[in-house]
Amino acid sequence: MSFTVAIDGPAAAGKGTISRALAAAFGFAHLDTGLLYRAVGAKGGDPVQAALSLTPQDLARDDLRSLAAGQAASRVAVIPEVRAALTAFQRRFATQEPGAVLDGRDIGTVICPDARVKLYVTASPAVRAHRRWLEVGGDAAQVLAEVIERDQRDMTRAEAPLRPAADAVVIDTSDLTIDQAIALATQVIRQRL
Ligand code: DC
Repeated sequence: MSFTVAIDGPAAAGKGTISRALAAAFGFAHLDTGLLYRAVGAKGGDPVQAALSLTPQDLARDDLRSLAAGQAASRVAVIPEVRAALTAFQRRFATQEPGAVLDGRDIGTVICPDARVKLYVTASPAVRAHRRWLEVGGDAAQVLAEVIERDQRDMTRAEAPLRPAADAVVIDTSDLTIDQAIALATQVIRQRL
């Protein structure tokens, strides 16, 4: 049986960093599922067709990390057919041996409801916007506004909204260093292995 770790949470909460560290520590595969939605948004044209025809090259574009790509991803992510087109790939990925870490918004609630470990990684909007601003620069107030706008859309959409699964362990990274957050997450997995 493969060991699936589901990590959900809002933008810039630290999910990606924690996921990569856990995957490296436990020898698990890692999928940043936000990248799938970013690639669909960046591809342009009909989002459903884009999701159905996604290629490894689409995922390798170097402009997928921008704020604009994040906003585009959040907009196509409200479309149920887009989400449906990406579900099978994510579920297959999750069954890899010896284990897989998937991070996103709906991994513990929809994609892998039976995951062995579910984490909900969050932080205050101000802290997350500051972290994002350190990465991308520009106007700090604008970065905060975009973080809040994206949270709002991701949390209130009808299909697979962002929320902690009932059995998720919540890690608030607002006042934690990266190392402290990784140590907490590692401890949760060790207890379940
Ligand atoms: O994690 P990220 O910032 O790369 O995600 C970009 C957007 O993609 C996010 O605002 C909402 C969407 N997304 C989603 O709806 N479901 C996921 N599992 C991952 C991302």
